[in-house]
Amino acid sequence: MSNKYGDIDYVFKVVLIGDSAVGKSQLLARFARNEFSADSKATIGVEFQTKTLVIDQKMCKAQIWDTAGQERYRAVTSAYYRGAVGAMLVFDITKRPTFDHMTRWLEELRGHADKNIVIMLIGNKSDLAHTRAVPVEDAQEFAERENLCFMETSALEATNVESAFLTALTEIY
Ligand code: GTP
Ligand code: MG
Repeated sequence: MSNKYGDIDYVFKVVLIGDSAVGKSQLLARFARNEFSADSKATIGVEFQTKTLVIDQKMCKAQIWDTAGQERYRAVTSAYYRGAVGAMLVFDITKRPTFDHMTRWLEELRGHADKNIVIMLIGNKSDLAHTRAVPVEDAQEFAERENLCFMETSALEATNVESAFLTALTEIY
């Protein structure tokens, strides 16, 4: 099919949010380029990467936006959320505060984003389950209460990363 994006039928903007160091940038690196870096630097401002994939025989371009978890490095919030149809709310399963802060991130998201945005709760670093600080049940309960999809991922081991993005994108589609 030909349109203004060439052979792309749909473009979806998805935003990543969550505390610093939970692994947002590495989830994106894994999904977009199948890469992982152990010494990933904190994100400053906003970055994005795209990945084209086929959903239901349509060419979909996922434009995934990534910003700093650290307040002082964050760019203008409303611009970040503008036009987003999906959001990945990421915490680190080994760091309880990153999960406790999900309420705040969700508030910010709901305050700025479209009300129909698809939201996915992601517990990252599942490869470190031996030092887990957030029981799966806690995250599931929170997700159910807030009406979110929930998945645990590991950007390091490439576990569920593709699946998490695909679930979100399919839900959006
Ligand atoms: P900000 O940009 O500051 O908001 O942080 P971020 O959420 O983008 O974190 P980033 O992706 O930079 O990852 C932080 C650290 O966690 C890095 O040392 C990564 O290598 C590591 N990391 C990311 N994902 C995983 C994972 O799935 N497992 C493990 N063990 N480490 C991970
Ligand atoms: Mg980052």
